[in-house]
Amino acid sequence: MPQLVFPSALYKKSYLEALKDFHLEGRNLEWSVELLSNDFSPLLTRFRQDALGLDLAPDHVPQIRFWLVEEDEYLGRVSLRSPLTRLQRLRGGNIGYEVAPQHRRRGFGHLLLGEGLKLALESRIRRPLVTCDKNNLVSRHIIEKAGGEFDASLANTQFPTERHYWFDLGESKSINHD
Ligand SMILES: CC(C)(COP(=O)(O)OP(=O)(O)OC[C@H]1O[C@@H](n2cnc3c(N)ncnc32)[C@H](O)[C@@H]1OP(=O)(O)O)[C@@H](O)C(=O)NCCC(=O)NCCS
Repeated sequence: MPQLVFPSALYKKSYLEALKDFHLEGRNLEWSVELLSNDFSPLLTRFRQDALGLDLAPDHVPQIRFWLVEEDEYLGRVSLRSPLTRLQRLRGGNIGYEVAPQHRRRGFGHLLLGEGLKLALESRIRRPLVTCDKNNLVSRHIIEKAGGEFDASLANTQFPTERHYWFDLGESKSINHD
């Protein structure tokens, strides 16, 4: 059964395989597979610091990441970001997720957004914001299916292709992520 865990060196091999695939799509380029193969600890340290809001890069906000894994296999990631800066409201939002390319189309995208919404609720973020590029049709579908309400008023010239969705997680609301 896939489960959410804190990032850990237990998944190093599989994470680095996924990172190579992400690089082929131009994602996560800030991390070098070669350097992390030699020493994985900078990644884990950075993630711990992000979770604690320590030594953040300009315009970055505290971010807690969970990895979706099955046995020793890395499947994907969900992040919860809060509080948001103006820039993060324009692009990024409270919840981010990605599925390792080789594990896509197995429902993990739906699952990770659903888990992100649960984390938001646990953190008392009642109206999480989720953003995605208008051309990212799969992510748009995932967000809309989960009940995200499109907000055209947040369209902006800085990130003109970004779409913004709010989730209302009031006490009585259930989270739709099947
Ligand atoms: C977007 C992303 C998370 C989707 O992950 P996934 O695990 O493939 O998604 P799922 O398997 O849950 O699929 C979601 C739906 O999209 C459909 N889908 C997935 N990939 C598809 C594709 N390439 N073409 C058409 N439909 C697709 C699925 O069939 C499913 O449809 P359903 O709701 O009718 O069942 C993944 O592509 C990804 O990590 N992309 C890069 C990062 C990213 O865009 N993150 C989101 C940022 S906002």
